[in-house]
Amino acid sequence: MLAIAILAAGKGTRMKSNIPKVLHKVGGCTLVERVLSSCEKINPDRKVIIIGHKGEQIKHSLTDHKELEFVIQQPQNGTGHAVQQLVPILKDFEGDLLVLNGDVPLLKTYTIQQLLAKHLESHAEVTCLTARLSEPDGYGRVFSDDQGNIDAIIEEKDCTSEQRKNTLTNSGVYCFNWRKLTQILSDLSNKNAQKEIYLTDAVTKLSIAKHLEIDDPREVSGINNKIQMAQCEAFLQEDLRNFWMNKGVTFIDPASCTISDNCCFGNDVVIEPQTHLRGHCHIGDNCHLGPGSFISNSSIGNNVNVIYSVMNNSVIENDIFIGPYAHLRPDSKINNNCKIGNFVEIKKSNIGQNTNISHLSYIGDSDLGSQVNIGAGTITANYDGREKNKTIIGDHTKTGANSVLIAPIKLGDNVTVGAGSTITEDVPDQALTIARNTQVIKENWSQC
Ligand code: UD1
Ligand code: CA
Repeated sequence: MLAIAILAAGKGTRMKSNIPKVLHKVGGCTLVERVLSSCEKINPDRKVIIIGHKGEQIKHSLTDHKELEFVIQQPQNGTGHAVQQLVPILKDFEGDLLVLNGDVPLLKTYTIQQLLAKHLESHAEVTCLTARLSEPDGYGRVFSDDQGNIDAIIEEKDCTSEQRKNTLTNSGVYCFNWRKLTQILSDLSNKNAQKEIYLTDAVTKLSIAKHLEIDDPREVSGINNKIQMAQCEAFLQEDLRNFWMNKGVTFIDPASCTISDNCCFGNDVVIEPQTHLRGHCHIGDNCHLGPGSFISNSSIGNNVNVIYSVMNNSVIENDIFIGPYAHLRPDSKINNNCKIGNFVEIKKSNIGQNTNISHLSYIGDSDLGSQVNIGAGTITANYDGREKNKTIIGDHTKTGANSVLIAPIKLGDNVTVGAGSTITEDVPDQALTIARNTQVIKENWSQC
């Protein structure tokens, strides 16, 4: 039997923030969500999270995790005190307890599996995941013999200057034999520099304490402040970019780009500097993204160029050119072979195949047919002050420069709109429509 406990009750004082620490985000995902996904495939019998400081907020953020049991630690007197709160709910539990720190977000499932395997095989009372760090500042130091038996874990603030030189650190991830742990849990004291009940003292007290040293210490980076948070983000981004570069994606200047865990790329994609992809993004083959673009929760087909543009919740089909300086807002769909050019904003609209919107336009709540040409400066006036109205434009229709289409409105197929028109009435197929003042010329108006 296995239970998992995630420690997430602490305030995170060093973050200097009103947001509870485990709700800060790395790679667009909260720390606690990351810890949960690291153990998603472990399939424990029980999964418990210990909350305290702003616990309701944390609980609210996790409403989708129906499998979670919430335990409240009030006040928060340290990591050992947090685990003491489990005693009532795990009273009859027999088996192992995997403890994860809510502020250690980059841990991999494989590493957890290795820790569990080592724990089972060595019949230890506790097995602790450790890391050898060149800069161990802030971490508890682990003192062990050559056989991997732990003598003690001493928090940095309680170390002598000699002890502080030890670079073997505690990751905050442990597997305990629950029965053995409960026998000593109430003996933990708070006689230490921080006046807290430390879980690390439980490891020191148990007689068969082993450790597993992790290969890549970056995986157990803990987040106590914004500098460590930025380091974690950098590690995560580097891993994601390297993963995709190994699959053939070209990054011209990798360090200047960020992507999310939920992005996927086809063959021969080039990502130019300062390009960022957030949320779920699916990018097809032969796409060229950037420089200077922001793409979130969008799907892009094959042979698409996006330059200096912003795109949210949109679907872009194949053979399309976007930008520079285009803004595609949610629920935009651009079908094959379109061109969306400079300073064009599109919102909640379907743009048919082979349509060009090349310059300075706003297209909102619209449905455009195929082979439409939207002249420079065409605006769909979709909002009448109360509600949003639809514009429908048929196939092969052209709007002249500076047309305003007052919605709700429907232009048929093959319509031509004269430049500078303000169109308020529907226009039938094949028609030319012009709605502007006749030009007046007053000769010899100027005196000189
Ligand atoms: C802890 C370890 C340290 C280890 C480091 C790894 C202890 C005493 N020290 O130190 O050896 O190197 O993690 O990252 O365990 N928490 C509670 N209730 C509390 C206090 C904390 O739930 O009363 C939670 C926090 O929300 C956090 C986790 O426990 O998710 C760790 O607490 P933190 O105060 O960050 O411990 P560290 O000082 O980093
Ligand atoms: Ca910490």
